[in-house]
Amino acid sequence: MTSAPLVPAPVTVRVPAKVNLELLVGPRRPDGYHALSTVFQAVSLYDDVTVAAAADWGVTVSGPLAAGVPENGDNLALRAARLVETHFDIDPVHIAIRKGIPVAGGMAGGSADAAATLVALDHLWDLDLDREELEDLASELGSDVPFLIAGGTAMGSGRGELLAPVLARGTYHWVFALAEGGLSTPAVYAECDRLRDDEDVPDPVPTAALMSALRTGDPHELAAQLSNDLQAASLSLRPDLAEVLAAGMEYGALGGIVSGSGPTTAFLVENSEAGIDLAVALTASGVVRDVRRASGPVHGAHVIHQRTD
Ligand code: C5P
Repeated sequence: MTSAPLVPAPVTVRVPAKVNLELLVGPRRPDGYHALSTVFQAVSLYDDVTVAAAADWGVTVSGPLAAGVPENGDNLALRAARLVETHFDIDPVHIAIRKGIPVAGGMAGGSADAAATLVALDHLWDLDLDREELEDLASELGSDVPFLIAGGTAMGSGRGELLAPVLARGTYHWVFALAEGGLSTPAVYAECDRLRDDEDVPDPVPTAALMSALRTGDPHELAAQLSNDLQAASLSLRPDLAEVLAAGMEYGALGGIVSGSGPTTAFLVENSEAGIDLAVALTASGVVRDVRRASGPVHGAHVIHQRTD
């Protein structure tokens, strides 16, 4: 009697979104990317990515935020799997993504799915990747992907992919205002270049004031240091976001910024009760499409479910 081939049990990885507490954009490099100095924080909005052995490569996307995510080879999760296939002799997988991270919103949702897929494949096929191998694959897929594996609070340099730990105390509470439609990250960087015109842009260096604020664990201190060099470009492409930022501050946020390249806006609040109040006020105001509350820092991509039966 011949036994059936062993099929590994599907693996589900939960991966967070990110917000940039500081995003300093330097000059455009010869490779087209911009030199960055950024501080990332992983926040508790999650995608769950389930990877299962399959006859053919494929990806499906579900959940209330799934609209607009490609279910083909353009999907960054599937690109991550195909990249792993070029390095290791692995069989095809189907990837099922349940989206809780806003799409094209400046919260690295696509990068998160790529990060989750790398971690899931490592478990599914027992690849035994070490931290460095994972980071190398991750940075090939996108500037934010290594951070979504690491999670927590970290500084990013290079084009964002070179990580260094940051000493941060406490838990911070956020309200994210989701916007209608998305913004293309390359378009926002291009607009940033256009607005700066021929200005001589210095190489970005992290500010000491943000690092000190993070050591206090005090949201008031952090709120005063939030900054995003892409904000002017996002507002230029989406002038309606200025109204959202103003509403958030009016209804009690300690600080508000465009998240990454936008159009999601991020509001830092005093505590979780203040988060509920702000979420209710923003929803009632009618200036935002939808809101999400979250806290950070949280862990990076991690396995939440692997059936062993
Ligand atoms: O690395 P990732 O694929 O996430 O970047 C998306 C786009 O954002 C790039 O193609 C580039 O236009 C822009 N970008 C940039 N400088 C960075 C990171 C991203 O210009 N440091």
